[in-house]
Amino acid sequence: MPEQCVPLWEKPTLRAVAGETLRPGGFAVTDRAAELIGVIPGWRVLDVGSGLGATVGRLRSRFGADAWGVEHSRAQIDRSSGAHVVQAQGDLLPFRNEEFKAVFCECVLSLFVEPRQGLAEFCRVLQPQGYLVLADLHAEERGLPNGNSCAGRAVPLSVTREQVEACGFIVRLVEDHSRQLKDLAAKLMFAGGQATGTCTGRLGYYLMIAQKGGEPHVG
Ligand SMILES: C[S@@+](CC[C@H](N)C(=O)[O-])C[C@H]1O[C@@H](n2cnc3c(N)ncnc32)[C@H](O)[C@@H]1O
Repeated sequence: MPEQCVPLWEKPTLRAVAGETLRPGGFAVTDRAAELIGVIPGWRVLDVGSGLGATVGRLRSRFGADAWGVEHSRAQIDRSSGAHVVQAQGDLLPFRNEEFKAVFCECVLSLFVEPRQGLAEFCRVLQPQGYLVLADLHAEERGLPNGNSCAGRAVPLSVTREQVEACGFIVRLVEDHSRQLKDLAAKLMFAGGQATGTCTGRLGYYLMIAQKGGEPHVG
């Protein structure tokens, strides 16, 4: 694959500055979300687009969760231990209805061709009142998707919120973590990598926590 087509998260530059967590903020935002929703030992939690498995490991070691990951890239799984990670598409999950108490999706929803299809899948595998944790880039304005990076595909937060609500979730919290994005962009630039748009104020980074409403799924 030509170098310019390799996604940022597959490049050594990102791993060099971000470690195993291929997103702004490292574990800080993950831990905050896990604490806010009250993850306790034994909770079944799914991390969609689990990359190198950092969040799966963190939710297991720090919170005692029965955490699993879904990742579509064989190369990403092979770069990590691959423990508790299943190779699959995030919008076609190989799990039963209502299997999970929480679904995490960090810097991945913006990469989905059809985010609503992914959100509907998250809703399907969540128990009633289960939690959806989204962390991702957002853009000031909606433009045409540009390339295969979170930065090039980010949409306004209002668009994501509407999609989340349309899939049966109730949004409980939205927090701005754009500072974390700027920090990562600065580190990437110093390391000689790309950080398109992140320092211009055009892009930001959010944490959203939503809860599945309604009665148990039938069928
Ligand atoms: C920016 S990285 C984030 C990885 C991880 N969530 C983290 O924060 O460290 C995006 C990851 O999502 C994966 N991914 C993208 N689209 C996906 C899809 N439709 N289904 C499953 N994984 C996907 C990529 O292969 C990549 O590992």
